[in-house]
Formats: sequence, structure tokens, C-alpha cells
Amino acid sequence: MTNSNIQHPTSNIGGERTLDALTRSGRIAVTLPPSDVPPSSATIPSALLREDLPLPELSQLDVVRHYTRLSQLNWSIDTHMYPLGSCTMKLNPKVNDAIAAMPSFAEAHPMQPAADAQGALAVMYGLQRMLAEITGMDETSLAPLAGAQGELAGVLLIKAYLESIGEHRTTVLVADSAHGTNPATASMAGFDVVAVKPRPDGDMDLDALRAALEEHGPTVAALMITLPSTLGLFDRNIVQIAEMVHAHGALMYGDGANMNAMLGQVKPGDLGFDVMHLNLHKTFSQPHGGGGPGAGPIVVKQHLATFLPSPHVALASERPERTVGAQPAAPAPHEPPAASELPPPTSRFSPPAQYALHNPDHTIGRLGAHAGNFGVALRAYAYIRSLGADGLRAISEAAVLNANYVQARLRGAYDLAHDRTCMHEVLFSGKRQKSQGAKTLDIAKRMIDYGYHPPTIYFPLVVDEAMLIEPTESESKETLDAFCDAMLQIAAEAETKPELLRAAPHTAPLRRLDEATAARTPILHW
Ligand SMILES: Cc1ncc(COP(=O)(O)O)c(C=O)c1O
Repeated sequence: MTNSNIQHPTSNIGGERTLDALTRSGRIAVTLPPSDVPPSSATIPSALLREDLPLPELSQLDVVRHYTRLSQLNWSIDTHMYPLGSCTMKLNPKVNDAIAAMPSFAEAHPMQPAADAQGALAVMYGLQRMLAEITGMDETSLAPLAGAQGELAGVLLIKAYLESIGEHRTTVLVADSAHGTNPATASMAGFDVVAVKPRPDGDMDLDALRAALEEHGPTVAALMITLPSTLGLFDRNIVQIAEMVHAHGALMYGDGANMNAMLGQVKPGDLGFDVMHLNLHKTFSQPHGGGGPGAGPIVVKQHLATFLPSPHVALASERPERTVGAQPAAPAPHEPPAASELPPPTSRFSPPAQYALHNPDHTIGRLGAHAGNFGVALRAYAYIRSLGADGLRAISEAAVLNANYVQARLRGAYDLAHDRTCMHEVLFSGKRQKSQGAKTLDIAKRMIDYGYHPPTIYFPLVVDEAMLIEPTESESKETLDAFCDAMLQIAAEAETKPELLRAAPHTAPLRRLDEATAARTPILHW
């Protein structure tokens, strides 16, 4: 970002004046205690010091009101239905935030000796076991900090496993209906990526898969598939697909970020997946989006467990010789520190430690500084424990029912990408409306006028004028009906006065933006 991108206009943003317009010389928001460090001129070369730093000067109340008003110009799940496909913008119960804010958890330090952090480790160990149980896998790593990082870890695990049995495979097949991060991940991990097309009904084309396996034969390391797919569909041939892939000595990678649709219904481990990631920030009580922390744990079958990222939480009784305290330096992959170099597993004042951080024997190494985003794991733990098995099953039932209800109400007005029972999200195409003069983008903008966050549009790429609607389990029938009424109204407007849609939004604080220029040449205001 260059300084020329930063401007200081005094104009309004959606009716709210910028801080530069509100500034009054000499006004202050906080009174700082006298400084007890040497003046910067004593320690910083004068060439690096600024004479003047023109920051806005405001009272605390001005600042609070400014940011509160700005926040109200925004959209959030707390204010509006947010049917953004592939994002699962659902209720994250506030009680889980309260639990994460409890001082005993919030003030735990990642460098604390494991013996003094047994409560936090118990939560992590418990979550590892629960995620393995929910997915039908054997082990879990909470280390990945996002879904895409979980994918990278999973693919690196596959590579490490294959190399350990003397196989140097270079190709990853990726379902064309997979999330965009899947091919990107395989490519980042150094694999050649080969796409496998879906059939017109949305399931994977088994002939195309067979042809790809034959063509790339012994070079195929894995198939990456998103289940349910970004088409909102459960691939009915998934077991056969896994058998075909395994018969070629390759492994099955599952993108399980859409687990909201499958909780308590089916265990991916039973379907033939070797490794899969979950997005805690979609399914398990962590807000998605807004740049906040997330987590993309991976769950694996036993043959991959020894390669899991480090550190991993284990029962101290099972791994006493590998116990690592909180240690800052990343250990080299495949070389866990010798037991003699490690701090004792318990402190003099604690009872014997029950849980320990350890390096799996052939770990692919670290993905971050510590053991993952603990606050995110804690919310997920609280969420799963409070819902129990029946509650989790009820989530997927309601999520799938709600998406099918929307599909049933809108099917006459919008073209369905695939006319069959959908899972947790439903995929329409705005082709009909485009031919009437209003593109999918115009429909999305018009939805803002009706009080709804637009759905995901132009994704997945394999469907023309795509509109991916994910209502989630959280919305009531009244809200779904109001949403569908608005969508039907917009379809009628597209038919009779498409120019209304082309000029939308009409009620938003800012009208139609030049999004490409805004992304490429942002002008920042404050
Ligand atoms: C199906 C699917 N896979 C992968 C990802 C990537 O996750 P992240 O954005 O945390 O990297 C997402 C993101 O929402 C997703 O919806």
C-alpha cells in the first residue's frame, strides 16, 4: 500500500463523517500516565523521527459514537439473515464466547509449561477425541489455523505417508465441484493438479475419474473432493469413488468444511476418506468471516497419525517419553527432541500431568507458533458438549430441511442448477433473469434493499450465473418465508423492470461500487 492510497477527505461515508472531519485541535480521548521511558529522540536516529504526526483529535464519546455508527452500516448475522453459500453464517451461541472469555482460559499463556496448563490441554484433548468420533476417523490435529491450512497439512501428510512407503507420486486429482482452495492447496504442496468433471446431475463423472486414474496411473497421490460439494450436493457414488482411488494406491482427501450438512448422519471415515479437514469457523460455533481467527483441524485414519503436525495433545501416560513443555523453537521434522533435553512433565507443585504436548514420531512439523487457536477450539468444545449427539444431528437435519424448503419455494422463479434434493445449501442459476436484463449481480444488489445479505454469487465457477444460498439451521420458518417472498418479488421485478435491479441497491448507505477498482486500488479513509 503506498501513501498515495491514503487520503484524508472530510466527506461522508454513508452519512457518517470521517474522523478528519470530526477532529478538533486539543481534544483528547484518554489521559496517559507520565512516560517512564527515555524520550524517543534519545534512542531513535533523528532521520527516522517525524516532526508532525497529523492524527485526528477527538473525545472518547466522539470515537465511540463514530465507530458504533460505522458498525451499524455493516451487515452481520446479529442483524440480518446472511445466506452466504459455503460460509455457514449461523448462530454461534453467545454462551460459548462467555466461556472463551473466562479468565482461567483467556489468560492461559501458550508458553506455560504443559504441567500448569492441564485444563486447557484437557479441552484440546477432548475436542480431538470428539472430532474423531463425529467424523469416524482415528486422530485429530487442532494445529491448522484455517481451512486452507488444514488442507495443506492434509496433503503434506499424504505426501509424507507415500514417501515413507517408497512412493513418489506427483499428481493430485481434484473434483471440479470442490472448493477453490482444494486445487490451490495441491498446487502449493508441489503437486500437478488434474480436474475431474461432474456429470450433469452434479455427481462426479466416474468415467472421467477412471480415465484420469488410468492416464496418470502410478503418479496419482490423492483425490481431493468436497463433501457435500460446492454444488450443495452429496455425491451418491462416494464409496465407489474411494474404492477406485484406493485401488490405484492413492489416498482420499475430504474437504469437510461443509460438515454442517452431515453431523450425526454419516461419518466420512466410514465412506473411505483417509484425511479430512473441518472448519470450526463454519460448523462449530466460531464466527466466519471478518478476518477473525478460525481453525481448520484435520482428522485422519491411523496410518497417517504418525505424520500429524506438531505439537499434538496426547495422554501423558501414553507418550511420556515425548512430552514437550511449551517450547518456542520449531523442532525439525522427523526429529523429536531427545527425552533428556525436555523439561519434566510435571512441576513440583502439580499433580502428575494427565495431558502432554508431543511431537508425533514423523511429524510434518509445525504450522504455527503454538498448538492452534485455543479460543476457537474452546468454543467448539463447549458447543459440542452442550449439544450432544442428538443436538448435532438436529443441526444437520434442520440445515438440510431449510435449504430444501428454499429450493421448493423458489424453484418456479429461478433455474435450479441441479434439480434434486440438496444438502445444506441450494444452487440456483440466474440465467433466466440475465436474459430478461438483470444479471445475478443485480439480483444480489437488490436483495440488500430487501434487508438480506446477498448469497454467494458466481461461485461455484462450473455453473453459469451461480447463486449459492445457505440458509443454515438457525433461521425460523417466518424468516425463511420472508426471504423467499423477497426473492420471488425480485424475480418478478427482473421480468417487468430489470432496470430497477441494475441500479440497486437503492437504500444502502453506498450505492453500486466499482468493486474491481476498489480491490485493486483501494483508497482508505478514516
Ligand atoms: C468448502 C470449503 N472448503 C475450504 C474453505 C477454506 O477455509 P478457510 O477460508 O478457513 O481457509 C472454505 C471456506 O469457507 C469452504 O467453504
